[in-house]
Amino acid sequence: MEKFIIQGEVPLKGKIRVKGAKNSALPLMAGCLLTEGKSYLENIPHLTDITVMMKVLEGLGAEVKREDDILEINTAKLSHHEAPYDLVKMMRASILVLGPILARFGYARVPLPGGCNIGARPINLHLEGLKKLGAEIKVKNGYIEARTKRRLKGNSIYLNLPSVGATEDLLLAASLTEGTTLINNASYSPEVIDLINFLKKMGAKIENRGGKLIKVEGVKELRPVSYSIIPDRIEAGTFIMAGIITRGEVTIEGAHIDHLKTPLAKLREMDVKMEITDNEVKIRGESVWKPMKIKTLPYPGFSTDLQPQITTLACLTQGVSAIVETIFKDRFTHISELRKMGADIERKEGMAIVKGVPLLRGTSVVASDIRGGAALILAGLAAKGVTEIHNIYHIDRGYEKIEERLSKLGANILRVEE
Ligand code: EPZ
Repeated sequence: MEKFIIQGEVPLKGKIRVKGAKNSALPLMAGCLLTEGKSYLENIPHLTDITVMMKVLEGLGAEVKREDDILEINTAKLSHHEAPYDLVKMMRASILVLGPILARFGYARVPLPGGCNIGARPINLHLEGLKKLGAEIKVKNGYIEARTKRRLKGNSIYLNLPSVGATEDLLLAASLTEGTTLINNASYSPEVIDLINFLKKMGAKIENRGGKLIKVEGVKELRPVSYSIIPDRIEAGTFIMAGIITRGEVTIEGAHIDHLKTPLAKLREMDVKMEITDNEVKIRGESVWKPMKIKTLPYPGFSTDLQPQITTLACLTQGVSAIVETIFKDRFTHISELRKMGADIERKEGMAIVKGVPLLRGTSVVASDIRGGAALILAGLAAKGVTEIHNIYHIDRGYEKIEERLSKLGANILRVEE
C-alpha cells in the first residue's frame, strides 16, 4: 500500500493540462461491445478504473491494447456474456456492459455492482428500463441475469431520477434495439453527450432534444470507429481549487469551459480571482474568498463530484458555508478527516455546515473514495505542516499521476510505500 506525504503552505505555480474524462472513457469502452471489429478511443487517461474496464472487456472475449493514451478495442471475437465477478465488484461502472451485451446477444449475466463509501448505489433504474425494452431480468445469488427471447423492442422509458449510469446503459441497449426508444428525464451530462456523439459516429440514430428527452431509433448494426473523448471537467475543477486553496498562480489548460459553467460561476460568486479564456482558467493568486452556499444537483447543476473539494475550500473561508449533497447522501467521508486537520464542520442530514478557520494543520488522514481523497490532497497542500494520506489507491482511480503533476506546479508531495 502507498501513501502521500505532503508538506503544506506551498503556493502552486505554473500550467497543468487536463486529461481525458474518466466518466466518458468508461461508458465509451462499454459501447465498443456493440460492434464487431477494431475501435480506437483517444485521449484516454491512465487510471486504475480504466485498467479494470479493460480487463472486464477482455473477460468478455475482447482484445484490448493500449498505446499511450489510445485504446484499441477489438470485439470481433466476443466469447462470453458474463462479466467477471471480482472486476465488477471493484468498479460499479462495469454494470455499463449489461445493456450492450444484452442488445447484441440477447443474454447477459453481470454481478450486482457493490455499493461504495458514498452510498448504496442501486441500479433499479437500469433494470426497470431494460425490462421496458422487453428484457426478462432475474436477480439471484448476487447476479443479474438478463435475457430476451427475440430482439429488444423500443419503448418509452421514464427515469424517476436523471441517473447518468442508467441513461448510458439504456442508450447503449436502445441503439441496437428494433424501433424507437424515448428516454425521458435522462441525464444530459457532458459525458452522456460524449457517449451520444460516439454512438452516432458508429451509425446510431439518436436525437437529444434539448436535454432531458433522448430519442433513439434502433439500427441493425453499428460500425467500429475512432473517437477522441472530452477532457475531464472534474479533474479540471479539482486543479482549479488546488490553485485557489494554495493561493497560487495556476493555469488549468485544455478543459471545455462550457462544462464548468456552474462551478466557475460559484467561484466567481465567492470573489475568487480568475481569468477565463475559451480553454484556460487562470487562477490569479491571492484571493480572500467569501463563504458559499452549495447544493449538488444533476448536470448542469453543481456536480456532486466537486462537493468534497469545495467543502475543503470552505474550511479556509472566512464565515459560515452550507454544502447540501442531494445526489449521494453519504458523500461526506472526508469530513471526519478534515476535522482531524482542525476543520470546523457540523454535519446534518445530507448537509455540511462549515465554519471557516484561519488554518488547517497537517496530520495523518485516510482517503475512502476518489473525490474525498482529492479533497484531502487539497487540504494537505494548504495545511501548516505535514499531512500523510493513506489508502491513496482510491485517488489513483480518478487522477492520473496526481503527485507528479502537482509537483510540477511546485507542490511538495511524495508517494511512498506504507
Ligand atoms: C456517475 O455515477 C459517475 N460515475 C459518478 O462519478 C457521479 O458522481 C454520478 O454519475 C453523478 O450522478 C461514472 O460516470 C462512472 P447516478 P452513477 O446513476 O451513474 C441514484 C466519480 O467520482 N440511482 O447518476 O452511478 C443513485 O443512488 C463518480 O467519478 C438510483 O436510485 O450515478 C444516486 O443517488 C462517483 N437508481 C443518483 O441516482 C439507479 O438505478 C445518481 O446516480 C441509479 C442511480
